[in-house]
Amino acid sequence: MEKYSLEDCRIVELDRHHSDRKGNLTVVENGVTLPFDVKRVYYMYDVPGGESRGAHAHKSLSQLIVAASGSFRVTLSDGVNSRSFFLNRPYHGLLVRPGMWRDLDDFSSGAVCMVLASDIYLEDDYIREYDEFLAFRNNG
Ligand code: TYD
Repeated sequence: MEKYSLEDCRIVELDRHHSDRKGNLTVVENGVTLPFDVKRVYYMYDVPGGESRGAHAHKSLSQLIVAASGSFRVTLSDGVNSRSFFLNRPYHGLLVRPGMWRDLDDFSSGAVCMVLASDIYLEDDYIREYDEFLAFRNNG
């Protein structure tokens, strides 16, 4: 299994079509935008102020996390270093590669966290215990 580092996780500037009259449109297209094909889309919304989500890692899943509306912070960790990204633009996506612990917090009111994922929902792909995550990183 390929081992990724924090540097492989970055903000992707998405295609934006602007019209003064009609507003904006952003596109994500398989084979063009991302280093993976999208198999599943899910989104979180109505997250109460002060709540956090995430607190897990994935063994194989790649994701693009987009603040489709509002804003929130995503903190990624490789078990040694961590990096925070504040997402507040629908045309910015955070590329998250496998093997990264993620915490999402600081949700604004009305925030919509849209996630484009490389695979279907597989509970076996989740690492929900931080100790288990560290062991996964160290044994890879
Ligand atoms: P979870 O991934 O734990 O949310 P968080 O982003 O807070 O870590 O998922 C919350 C619940 O939703 C959990 O019961 C599993 C379910 N779920 C699905 O059924 N399918 C999905 O694609 C996802 C992402 C979650």
